[in-house]
Amino acid sequence: MIFSPEPKKRIEDLFGRNDELKELDKLVRKNRIILVTGMRRIGKTSLVNVYLNKFVKQRFALVDVRTSGKSFNGIFQVFDDVLHQLDSWINIKDMLKGVTGVTVFGSGISLSWKENSRANLGEIFDTINKTGKKFLVVLDEAQRLRGNLSYVILDLLAHCYDYCDNIKFIITGSEAGVLRDFIRIDDSQSSLFGRHIPELRLDGFSREKSREFLIRGFGEAGLKFKQDVIEKSFDYLDGVAGWLNEFGLRCIEKGTVTESILSDVFENAVKLEIEEVSRFSTNYILVLEALGQGRTRWSRIRNYLEGKLQRTVNDSEVQRYLEKMIKRGYVEKRNDEYLILDPVLIRYFSKET
Ligand SMILES: Nc1ncnc2c1ncn2[C@@H]1O[C@H](COP(=O)(O)OP(=O)(O)OP(=O)(O)O)[C@@H](O)[C@H]1O
Ligand SMILES: [Mg+2]
Repeated sequence: MIFSPEPKKRIEDLFGRNDELKELDKLVRKNRIILVTGMRRIGKTSLVNVYLNKFVKQRFALVDVRTSGKSFNGIFQVFDDVLHQLDSWINIKDMLKGVTGVTVFGSGISLSWKENSRANLGEIFDTINKTGKKFLVVLDEAQRLRGNLSYVILDLLAHCYDYCDNIKFIITGSEAGVLRDFIRIDDSQSSLFGRHIPELRLDGFSREKSREFLIRGFGEAGLKFKQDVIEKSFDYLDGVAGWLNEFGLRCIEKGTVTESILSDVFENAVKLEIEEVSRFSTNYILVLEALGQGRTRWSRIRNYLEGKLQRTVNDSEVQRYLEKMIKRGYVEKRNDEYLILDPVLIRYFSKET
């Protein structure tokens, strides 16, 4: 089914991503670490899931690290999970017996993070590599692992890049700049410095593809629709698969296709975006308001912030906000102007004026 609440797994259910699947396959064949990026709800997990099930077929592990936490406990749980999944394809438990910090018991593997007997992830992956079989590990939303202990992951990735020719990684992230910051490939102090790590960036569907997506979904569900609502859906949701999918699901639930459902989904999309933006600073919202109102140049953004915050705002503060928002993919700089990138936010913040 084209409309479903969970990420897709089967190729028959994944709409319009054949080129991306082929591209991902090409990248995985030629590289050891690949980034898959794209804004929230665009379809990253679905693409990677389908890729694993259709192209890789075996010996893969996919772990959603969004809720893992950044402690040793959290990081080692991620790798517990990776090992557990890999073990379901090929028995790695026996091989890992005797590796420092690894306890193997009946149905599982446990990794210790205790200081003097901490599991050595490099040694674990070396052992897996020696099987001579190919493995693919996906860390979904990996930027969430950044923090004081991110070196644990980066050291492992660098080690595998250099020494484990049978193990590859796909790393996904919805905040491309933040993910790149986490990986730190351009930082000479980082263990991954200088490694070739290509990126596959997922975009929203075109107007035509969005239309096709909905028509196919409504067709499958046997729902009648008016063409103008389909047309408007692109204006509201800008080809983001997750929001088009949500629109489809809600229409099925209500048994009808209306613009008011579309507008509810748009409000939801905005809410999620605003929550994400405000997680970093509520002042980001003020910057988006300024940009949405056409105050796209530095001085006018600063004036707007001063008016709203009722205090002086200095240049470095404005610079910090803008740089962070560019990094997180909300804003881009074109010549001397700053522009909102995310179409859902553009629509919302321009409408407010
Ligand atoms: N190409 C597609 N064809 C059909 N449905 C899709 C497609 N891409 C995404 N979806 C649907 O949209 C929703 C969001 O997709 P998915 O979870 O893969 O996106 P995501 O980018 O990983 O989102 P998040 O940023 O929240 O992790 C899911 O319900 C999924 O089934
Ligand atoms: Mg996802």
